[in-house]
Amino acid sequence: MSRKILIVGSGAREHAIAAALSRSPQYPMLYVWGSGVNPGMRDLSTATRVGSLLDGPSIAQWARGLGVDLAVIGPEAPLEAGVSDALWAVGIPVVGPKKTLARLESSKAFTRDLLMNHGIAHACPKFRRFDSMEGVAAFLAELGDLYVIKADGLMGGKGVKVAGDHLQSHQEALDWCEELIGAGGAFVIEEKLIGEEFSLISFCGGRTLCHTPPVQDHKRAFEGDTGPNTGGMGSYSDADHSLPFLSRSDLEEARTINEQVADALHRETGEYYKGMLYGGFMATASGVKVIEYNARFGDPECENLLTLVESDLVAAFDAVIDDALDARSVVFRRQASVCKYAVPEGYPDRPMKGFPFSIDRVRSEGLYLGAVDIKDGVLVGTGSRTVAVVSTGDTLAEAEAKAEHEICKIEGPLFHRKDVGTDALIARRVAHMRELRA
Ligand code: AMP
Ligand code: GLY
Repeated sequence: MSRKILIVGSGAREHAIAAALSRSPQYPMLYVWGSGVNPGMRDLSTATRVGSLLDGPSIAQWARGLGVDLAVIGPEAPLEAGVSDALWAVGIPVVGPKKTLARLESSKAFTRDLLMNHGIAHACPKFRRFDSMEGVAAFLAELGDLYVIKADGLMGGKGVKVAGDHLQSHQEALDWCEELIGAGGAFVIEEKLIGEEFSLISFCGGRTLCHTPPVQDHKRAFEGDTGPNTGGMGSYSDADHSLPFLSRSDLEEARTINEQVADALHRETGEYYKGMLYGGFMATASGVKVIEYNARFGDPECENLLTLVESDLVAAFDAVIDDALDARSVVFRRQASVCKYAVPEGYPDRPMKGFPFSIDRVRSEGLYLGAVDIKDGVLVGTGSRTVAVVSTGDTLAEAEAKAEHEICKIEGPLFHRKDVGTDALIARRVAHMRELRA
């Protein structure tokens, strides 16, 4: 009997999950519960249902009726809303943690406390949590010019303000904190880390993990890492399954921290974390530090990783459920990958919406549709990250050249960062780390 797998979510990350699952030799039947119809996912699946991604009971009822035997949840919002709990409650195993464990992403304070209380304090920047203005000025004085202020809760990347980038003085910082308090919110102030960011995502079964190659995302909207923060404009991974600016010990440290976090989550909550464990790290002069944790695949990191997967992703997800992962559970091609996102003109602050565009001339391997609708057979961008293009190659330069070539063939009012994965940008990253380590 054919396996039946439910995917919750309908963006480019979920399209990449669907594409990798459909390469499985088990030929699973795929079902999609999305906030819209992703035309790319529709072509790969047996049925699609449009509804709220937060509606656990309806999702569970639909999946049970279909006889689904495995579910995977793409985005963070349904994890925070307890969609995983609802599916488990009707007997469907889920790749994607339950609500209690998803606090790893939804609450910055939960995660900082977890690290502090379970022997992972060395990976934490200095931080303090506030729910009033008491002590804020003194802590800012202690940190000087190196501080970051984070609203507690899921803010889609918009809840973080970094000194020097978004806040130019302690006065501006205090005003922002007042605003957060006024809105009834708690926040964390922490030391600003100096270094290079990378993502290390691990398949996690609770006690067992399988690490994926590290990936570097690019959060800023414009070339040269300028402009507002976004969900991520593009990302790359290297053929040696490290990154050019990382040392061997950086990578080892990050893997160890993910393992420690999985263990800490069990000790803290009594439950096993089953899903993708995403460490957002900063490589610094004094080792690897945790910036944040996410409870899911990164977007666009997922598009890189799942384009490179050459083993059976259904089997890997089963190993997550059975807590039977090891280093060989997921096999990645020894190739470099570059992902570039085409986004609407005006993104992220005032994106165009409802515009037609064409991907007819783009090679389809590694092409994932994001915020896209289809009207009378024509693709229409709905106003967020629109198309992710992933190319692979023996070197980063080759992968980058191919990705750039393909993405330029998209026709429509979209733009992308030409610098993602280029030699020049990567040389800057490497030089930056060398300077910091000297
Ligand atoms: P987060 O939502 O925690 O990932 O923060 C968004 C972005 O803010 C990160 O990708 C970093 O670029 C930056 N950031 C967050 N925390 C820090 C920190 N402690 N030091 C430096 N940059 C940070
Ligand atoms: N690429 C960053 C994220 O998915 O949060």
